[in-house]
Amino acid sequence: MADIILKPKGTNDVLPSDSYRWQYIEGVLRKAASDFGYSEIRFPTFEHTELFVRGVGDTTDVVQKEMFTFTDRGGRSITLRPEGTASVVRSYLENSLYGAGLPVKCFYIAPNFRGEQPQAGRYREFYQFGVEYLGSPCPSADAEVIALYAAILDRLGIKGTQLSINSIGCPECRPKFHAALRAYFESRRDELCRTCLDRLDKNPMRILDCKSPVCKEIAGDSPSCLDYLCSDCLEHFEKTKEMLGAMGIDFTIDPEIVRGLDYYTRTVFEFVSTDIGAQSAICGGGRYDGLIETLGGQPTPGLGFASGLERMMMVMDAQGIEFPKPEGCRIFLAALGGAAEVPVQKLVYDLRKLGVKAERDTTGRGLKAQMKYADRLGAAYSAVIVDNELSEGRARIKDMSTGSVFECLLTAEDIRNAVI
Ligand code: HAM
Repeated sequence: MADIILKPKGTNDVLPSDSYRWQYIEGVLRKAASDFGYSEIRFPTFEHTELFVRGVGDTTDVVQKEMFTFTDRGGRSITLRPEGTASVVRSYLENSLYGAGLPVKCFYIAPNFRGEQPQAGRYREFYQFGVEYLGSPCPSADAEVIALYAAILDRLGIKGTQLSINSIGCPECRPKFHAALRAYFESRRDELCRTCLDRLDKNPMRILDCKSPVCKEIAGDSPSCLDYLCSDCLEHFEKTKEMLGAMGIDFTIDPEIVRGLDYYTRTVFEFVSTDIGAQSAICGGGRYDGLIETLGGQPTPGLGFASGLERMMMVMDAQGIEFPKPEGCRIFLAALGGAAEVPVQKLVYDLRKLGVKAERDTTGRGLKAQMKYADRLGAAYSAVIVDNELSEGRARIKDMSTGSVFECLLTAEDIRNAVI
């Protein structure tokens, strides 16, 4: 029975005392996305399972091991969204968003669900800020998408992250890379884990992001995808790097980054912070030029990234970055004596209607306890309304930081003008 007040494993509460941190970071993300030309998209928390199986890929860890899938009352297989890209593409196709012209640039802030083994920075429900840029094949779009995240880090004051980029090619050059990988892993077949043995036939690239330490070590010596890029992919990668360089965005090339989702083509990237332990990837993304077609649309290029909000906040905490505190209570009105009770109730309501953060006690406390409560609320001003104030129609307002007292009329307008 006690379990009823315990949250499920891998989930988090955002407490009232902490929600300002989320609101702050979400505000910065929304503003940055808007400055870069993205509009918000909202989508359902669950989708048909097939969307993720087809979109994310049936050889990925996410689909094979981590999805929260159930059968609804109508017998349909439903999955809680493990990531946002497939949902955005589904909505883009279902709502013919291409009809208004390309590119379509949208962002989302939404919870995702993956049944991973929870640890610091890895949760079963986590929030992502993500952007998707649909309809541009050009390296300028790659550079622009990466630049948005670099600008976000800058605006949040996050320092010392590393951006790693790679290109994993296209359907033109990928088969040669796959053949080389397959040959290499075949030679070490006996050492691979069971899941990777299966991947060896279906999609050898997935072995590169296996979490098993042995497979990881074997993958370390595997062929590099950069050696197999076709000339178009090479040119795309070179141009992307040139544009990042021109914008002053530092990066390193890491041929080991292949990303854990099947839809990627060409550019892939990750931002990593060394300040938050093992779950160090704060942002990951890349191009997915085949995804829209895979999900039934016309061939249309696309790209984007997503960043975990919890991990971003962990980095900010580790770096001692302050979150701006929300505005506290502006004025606390204490009622003393039965006659003050109703007028104070009305005054607080009138002040709130005027947009003033006004508070009063509603728990029947004595005056001393009311003033303690005002302190706890961080009230900037307070006033004790007693019977004679009501008859005189004047209020004595105390500035809580200096202790000085001044008078004004006992009306909401006059008090507002005095305390704002
Ligand atoms: P992802 O790499 O799976 O990519 O996730 C992106 C980010 O979400 C990670 O870098 C991390 O910050 C956060 N994240 C992932 N899993 C967890 C977890 N279990 N707990 C906490 N945070 C987590 C995607 O999801 C792609 N849809 C990104 C994308 C968008 N690519 C193109 N467009």
